[in-house]
Amino acid sequence: MSHWTTQQIESQKGRTAVVTGANSGIGLHTASGLAGVGAHVILACRDTSKAAAAAEIILAKHPSASVAIATLDLASLASVREFAEQICSNHGQLDILVNNAGVMAYPTRRATADGFEMQFGTNHLGHFALTGLLMPALLAAPSPRVVTVSSIAHKPGRIHFDDINWEHQYAAWPAYQQSKLANLLFALELYRRAEQSGSKLISVAAHPGVSYTNIVKNGPGANGLKATVLGLLGPVIMQPDWQGALPSLFAATDNGLNGGEYIGPDGWLEWRGYPTLVKPEPHALDEVSALQLWDISESLTGVTYPPLA
Ligand SMILES: NC(=O)c1ccc[n+]([C@@H]2O[C@H](COP(=O)([O-])OP(=O)(O)OC[C@H]3O[C@@H](n4cnc5c(N)ncnc54)[C@H](OP(=O)(O)O)[C@@H]3O)[C@@H](O)[C@H]2O)c1
Repeated sequence: MSHWTTQQIESQKGRTAVVTGANSGIGLHTASGLAGVGAHVILACRDTSKAAAAAEIILAKHPSASVAIATLDLASLASVREFAEQICSNHGQLDILVNNAGVMAYPTRRATADGFEMQFGTNHLGHFALTGLLMPALLAAPSPRVVTVSSIAHKPGRIHFDDINWEHQYAAWPAYQQSKLANLLFALELYRRAEQSGSKLISVAAHPGVSYTNIVKNGPGANGLKATVLGLLGPVIMQPDWQGALPSLFAATDNGLNGGEYIGPDGWLEWRGYPTLVKPEPHALDEVSALQLWDISESLTGVTYPPLA
């Protein structure tokens, strides 16, 4: 059986892409894959020196690649606004936005610069605001596409509408699961809005299965015995980061997608494998929750989406 690989990506010459969290793991391989087929790729990272190192890695692999670095801290709405203004004024159009960056399961509650719980604030609200603020540049492109990276972790997740920022009782994994469910609800609601307004914008969700990246290596239990066990077993039971990036690359470039799809690995329990269409849990398809989340996200971030057509 033949699998989809980066060999099948058509040339992206003339297209501009932004990848958030492009300095490491899935984001680095997504950015590298897009740059390797001719896209101009902007590495949107919170740490400029890590972004510069990532650009060097990409250029070493693809010497004729066109990459730029730009500062984006999704845990600060001021940074999101500054970044979006820069992109909109420097690049008339943006063809691909990959909402990839993420943080996972902080043992104790942390807050963003704007006071949001860190995972909800970074993984969902930051990307919600970013996508809305970049919409003028996206809609200026002939066939714009937004890819939002969710996770298997959306499955047990629920949106805690009564305490969405975990101010009363924080729980690390449920907070991560909420943020990843929010990513999927957002991607699908954006697709419905685009479709209803006859927009050319395509919104697709993706997930990398279980991939051995920094989010896992530096995650909960990253010290002591657990770290030793993880260091030994991680590379065996989890797939490598390049493979975890394939669903994002497929979602960003496959011409057969129309929007509303969810792409993940085709292997056992979607843990590993090659890109295929996968099914969101029914609660991720709930349009009432999606609308409620959208309204809350607009009100918390102060970002209102322009008409999509
Ligand atoms: N690995 C998995 O098994 C797995 C499974 C399901 C879903 N995912 C999702 O895949 C995505 C990528 O994660 P990964 O596995 O590649 O982990 P990773 O290697 O830790 O990459 C995460 C990236 O997000 C960036 N980031 C974190 N907070 C940020 C902020 N406030 N502003 C801007 N960038 C920020 C990180 O920057 P720094 O380097 O500066 O920290 C890093 O570049 C995440 O959305 C994650 O939830 C991963």
